[in-house]
Amino acid sequence: MLDKGIVLPAHIAIIMDGNGRWAKQRGLARTEGHKRGAEVFRNICTYASRIGIKHMTFYAFSTENWKRSETEVTALMNLFRNYLFEMEEREAENESGGYCIHFLGAREGLPSDLVKLMDQAEARSANKTHMHVNIAVNYGGRAEIVHAAKLLGEQIKAGTLQPQDITEESISALLYTANQPDPDLIIRPSGEQRLSNFLIWQAAYAEFYYDDVLWPDFTPDDLDRAINAFARRDRRFGGVQQQ
Ligand code: IPE
Ligand code: IPE
Ligand code: MG
Repeated sequence: MLDKGIVLPAHIAIIMDGNGRWAKQRGLARTEGHKRGAEVFRNICTYASRIGIKHMTFYAFSTENWKRSETEVTALMNLFRNYLFEMEEREAENESGGYCIHFLGAREGLPSDLVKLMDQAEARSANKTHMHVNIAVNYGGRAEIVHAAKLLGEQIKAGTLQPQDITEESISALLYTANQPDPDLIIRPSGEQRLSNFLIWQAAYAEFYYDDVLWPDFTPDDLDRAINAFARRDRRFGGVQQQ
């Protein structure tokens, strides 16, 4: 349960980790863990929207996850494709949760039919305001910064930008998360305590919350616990402790 009267984080980012271990514990194929993980993603999305979180970001597939077996990568892409189809159907039935969907990451390298579905989902949901849902697919924090640096380089080459005019804001505006607040709270289940190339620029002042629960077992109660812990933190942003 959420503690009474707390201020909710505006933006929560989650590293959905532990699907493989969850499956292994049950003697199942890793892909079964991903399947369950995808259901948990849907539940947590619905719950976050219900309690009034305005921005959620989910790490679904990193630029490093291509190292996995073809079977596993294909299974992950299929789950993603299913979700995109489901979104389309729900909208057709007018049951949409009202999310504004946004995909973080490089489109290059993803199957072209998937890219088309992603573009369509973004376009269809662009005017929805209830909650922003970012899904990081083929996402790497370093790749994101390299991408932004290339865009800046092009502007300089074209003479539309002077190097001395580059600011933190101008870099933020060229990231996949442009126009969205930085995450206040980053949650990583499964006992791992690292960022794994997730939102490395945007995480500058995020609060981190680690949990031993594996993602396929993650519940709304676990999210509540993370939010309660976040609300007790004293965020100083380099300043002095508030009394
Ligand atoms: C997270 O679960 C899903 C992705 C990275 C796509 P993992 O597949 O990393 O699960 P573990 O870490 O092997 O348990
Ligand atoms: C991070 O998890 C990526 C996603 C959850 C999509 P990984 O399982 O790939 O991270 P490492 O390899 O343990 O650092
Ligand atoms: Mg993992």
